Amino acid sequence: MAIRNIVKEGDEILTKVCRPVTVFDDRLRTLVQDMKDTLAKANGAGLAAPQVGVLKRLVLVADDNDEILVLVNPVITHTEGTQTPTEGCLSVPGVWGKTVRPAKVTVEAQDEYGNPVKYTRTGIVAVCFCHEVDHLDGHLYRERVTEYVHFDD
Ligand code: NI
Repeated sequence: MAIRNIVKEGDEILTKVCRPVTVFDDRLRTLVQDMKDTLAKANGAGLAAPQVGVLKRLVLVADDNDEILVLVNPVITHTEGTQTPTEGCLSVPGVWGKTVRPAKVTVEAQDEYGNPVKYTRTGIVAVCFCHEVDHLDGHLYRERVTEYVHFDD
């Protein structure tokens, strides 16, 4: 088990376009496990590889049942409708904002062994697919915020 440091907003790593994963080896699977440990410790809904300083097209998303979906080289292949969620990001701590996202999202990807996977989800999981794939192209959800939300602490 290894917890990796989460890169914060302002670090230029978060603005880079990530490279496709071409090698599905133990090194990749160690990265996936470390990201799972890091996501669990941070109590987050998703995590993209650039957030731990790795410029590869790999993200994790917590599914409705809390299972962690591993998405390597993810591509959003279908969307339907819209929703206006409140989003946050482990790289932008203490900030939440409303965005406009598709209501239903299909993502196609590979798992950590290179097997093709395809998931269609609604609600926050659908939002998370979009949010994490944005990270792989150097975009933070802040760019999509229509209104910031303030929670009393
Ligand atoms: Ni994020």
